[in-house]
Amino acid sequence: MEASAPALVELTDVNKHFGDLHVLRDINLTVRRGEVLVVIGPSGSGKSTLCRAINRLETIDSGTITVDGKPVPAEGKALAHLRADVGMVFQSFNLFAHKTVLDNVTLGPRKVRKAAKKDAEEAARTLLRRVGVEDQARKLPAQLSGGQQQRVAIARALAMQPKVMMFDEPTSALDPEMVQEVLDAMVALAKEGMTMIVVTHEMGFARKAADRVVFMADGQIVEQADPDTFFTAPTSARAKDFLSKILVH
Ligand SMILES: Nc1ncnc2c1ncn2[C@@H]1O[C@H](COP(=O)(O)OP(=O)(O)O)[C@@H](O)[C@H]1O
Ligand SMILES: [Mg+2]
Repeated sequence: MEASAPALVELTDVNKHFGDLHVLRDINLTVRRGEVLVVIGPSGSGKSTLCRAINRLETIDSGTITVDGKPVPAEGKALAHLRADVGMVFQSFNLFAHKTVLDNVTLGPRKVRKAAKKDAEEAARTLLRRVGVEDQARKLPAQLSGGQQQRVAIARALAMQPKVMMFDEPTSALDPEMVQEVLDAMVALAKEGMTMIVVTHEMGFARKAADRVVFMADGQIVEQADPDTFFTAPTSARAKDFLSKILVH
């Protein structure tokens, strides 16, 4: 990523409450085109809410969020297009259980991007090959392993040709032996220049793929730095404490 790359996702003074709970506190964050941002922090610090706010699965109370220079729309067609531009991969795979792998990947392009069936299927097969599950195309999600399902979820998001991909703890629900195959697909994507926002506890991934690590606690961005600096010389007490807990085992 070039240091002068334009901002693709920009949050300005973003605040969000759930009742009395102030879950996002004056968040200011710019993600540049081609940047890989890893977000880490303790459970409940607001990482998922941050991701969900960016593609408006959650509303915000104040501040602004723009994607590629445009404010995140509230509803309608504009919102559907935003969701297509911002690919999202969750902890739980969220595939349509009664649709084949191929249908899962082609549905969005056909509905939102108005792609022809043949073109959508051709593109889907290419993406499934890229994440190493092309031979599963005719199966239902339940017939796949967790790692395969998560790679299909990545292919499904990519099928919309998103401008940015968000991953919210994509490997947390996987059996340990399947974590690496999903991380490998993500590292490949990062190398291709995809703009990515990744919430993860996989520090190996952060060290290898991140341009920048953002540490959140209590709804705030407490600290941010390049991964080398962050992991070897964290400055805040909260980050030091967090790292000491996750790096010991
Ligand atoms: N829909 C909701 N209603 C009420 N509280 C919520 C909701 N979603 C999240 N929270 C609370 O907001 C805080 C931040 O949650 P979350 O963004 O999921 O944190 P993280 O992803 O860092 O674990 C937590 O205290 C959580 O319990
Ligand atoms: Mg979360």
